[in-house]
Formats: sequence, C-alpha cells, structure tokens
Amino acid sequence: MKPTVYICREMPEEMIAPVREHYEVRMWESTSEAVPRDVLLKEVADADALWTVISDQIDEEVLNAAPKLQIIVNMAVGYNNIDVKAAVARNIIVANTPDVLSETTADLAFALLMATARDLIGAENTLREGRWTSWEPLGFTGTDVYGATLGIVGMGRIGEAVMRRAKGFDMDVLYHNRNRKSEMEDMYGCRYAKLPDLLASSDFVLILVPYSEETKGMIGEEQLSQMKETGILINVARGGIVDEDALFDALRTNKIHAAGLDVFETEPVPLDHPLLTLPNLTVLPHIGSASVKTRKAMMKLNVDALLAFALGEEPNHQVRG
Ligand code: DGY
Repeated sequence: MKPTVYICREMPEEMIAPVREHYEVRMWESTSEAVPRDVLLKEVADADALWTVISDQIDEEVLNAAPKLQIIVNMAVGYNNIDVKAAVARNIIVANTPDVLSETTADLAFALLMATARDLIGAENTLREGRWTSWEPLGFTGTDVYGATLGIVGMGRIGEAVMRRAKGFDMDVLYHNRNRKSEMEDMYGCRYAKLPDLLASSDFVLILVPYSEETKGMIGEEQLSQMKETGILINVARGGIVDEDALFDALRTNKIHAAGLDVFETEPVPLDHPLLTLPNLTVLPHIGSASVKTRKAMMKLNVDALLAFALGEEPNHQVRG
C-alpha cells in the first residue's frame, strides 16, 4: 500500500505527477487560501507525509493529531512555521529548500533597498494619481545607494549573494553574524562589526537572520535608536525579528529615515496596521523567492525529498531545529 501525503496548498500537476506514483495524494485545492486549521487537523490523522508552505503552523497540536506522520517537507528555506524540535523528537523528518532561492531573494532584497532609497512606489503613485505637476529641483529626491555603507545582519547564503550585488554598486559592506566569515572578508573586502557598531555606521541595514527565539525582536527600540537618522532598514527575513511597534515609532518620529519590509509579524499584514499609515515605509507581500524558476526549484526539492523518503533513501536538506 502506498503511503499518504497531504499537500497543504494546490501545487502544479507537473510537480505532483511523480509524487502520485509513490503516494496516495490528497491536497487542499486552493493556490491562494491557506488550508483551514480544522481541515489540516483532520487531514493529518492518517498522513504519512505532509507538504507545507510557510503559512501552515505545524505545532504540537498538529503533530499530536498525526500519529503516522514521518516526513514534513516545507516549501521555504525558513522553517519557523514548524516546531522542528517537537517533530524531530517524534522521529519525523523535516526538510526545507535552501540554496535554490538565494539569488532570487538577494535580487528582491536589493530591489526593495533601491525602491525604498528612492521611494519608487511613492513616485509611481504620485504620477498615477495625477499629482506630478512639474519637474522640481528637489522633487522626488531620495538616498544614494552607490558608494553607501550596507550593514548585513545575518551573513549566510543570501547575505553573500546580496554582497556581490552591493559590490557592483561600490558599497562598503559591514556584516554581523554569529560566526565571523574570514573567507568572505578576504574575497569581498567586507568587514565584521558588532551589532551596535554596524547599526551606527550603516546607511542601509539589511536583516537576513533566520527567525528563532534568539532573533525574535532583535531589532527593537534600542537598536533602532543606534541607527543613523538618515538610515534605512530593510527586512526580507521574518517579521518578528524587527519589533513592529518600535519600528512604527522610529519611522513616525523620523529617528530613522525609512524602511522597506517584505515580511510582517502577521501575514498577510492587516490593512489597518499602523505601519501602513506611514509614508516612509515601502511594503511588499513576502515575495523574496517569487520568481517562477525559483518557486519551481523549491517545489522540486520538496518533491525529491518526498520521493527519496518513499524509496527508503535519505531525503535532502533535513533540518534539526
Ligand atoms: C523562505 O524560503 O523562507 C521564504 O521566506 C519563503 O519564500
């Protein structure tokens, strides 16, 4: 008898076809709506495998409802939506999708940085709303990216990919990371800095650390007050890393110049969120890895892990929390 996989979001048939050869496939048939919690809890009851996306919270309650579950594949490099410790304690394999999204996410990080620096979205809205009256000597002026200092908080694969882009813009790059990366310092001429020094010296601060108990709220009131008044904060990692109340205050009172966010504590961010009232904030709906090629590569890694498991092989990219 084939094992059963429950797929929490509608995936393209070309991806599911090879899975069907080895699994009984059941799927939440919507590409845009998350599977409701009660449906998920019911569906996992006899599932051997689960294919999730970042909006699926796989916690103790779900794991307790899934006595047969042996593998979870998550369509993301981040896996803070899964209680990995609890899963691993039950001998459930958890696999993610690293590497394939680094360049695409770095593209988006850099695009958001540039869009925020020059307020591209504000400028476009001004044009579309008929408020572009004339060329103005100091109209639509923003912050230069070329030659500026970029502080990268979290120097992993995406950080390295951003750094290569930054070097093309003659940026001076500082980084803060758990471990020093001397090979990167040699290769790219970037410099390690303690977090307060990085915050105080950078024109742009880019958050790329993974979300964890340790990084939750790591950019709060104190850290924002260490940034330059002209500083710009960009977060493409996870919402909870930056304290949103503190960011709102820092932007409202111009303690920092601007911010660009691709991620929020609650996603989708509620439209009445105070942050969305601010003119010096550029926002995107969590699209870091969103190119067709990359999203399909992420799906393919998930499929490969599911197939390896079904064939009794070791699934790729297992995480341990
Ligand atoms: C990830 O992979 O963690 C992204 O945030 C989802 O695209």
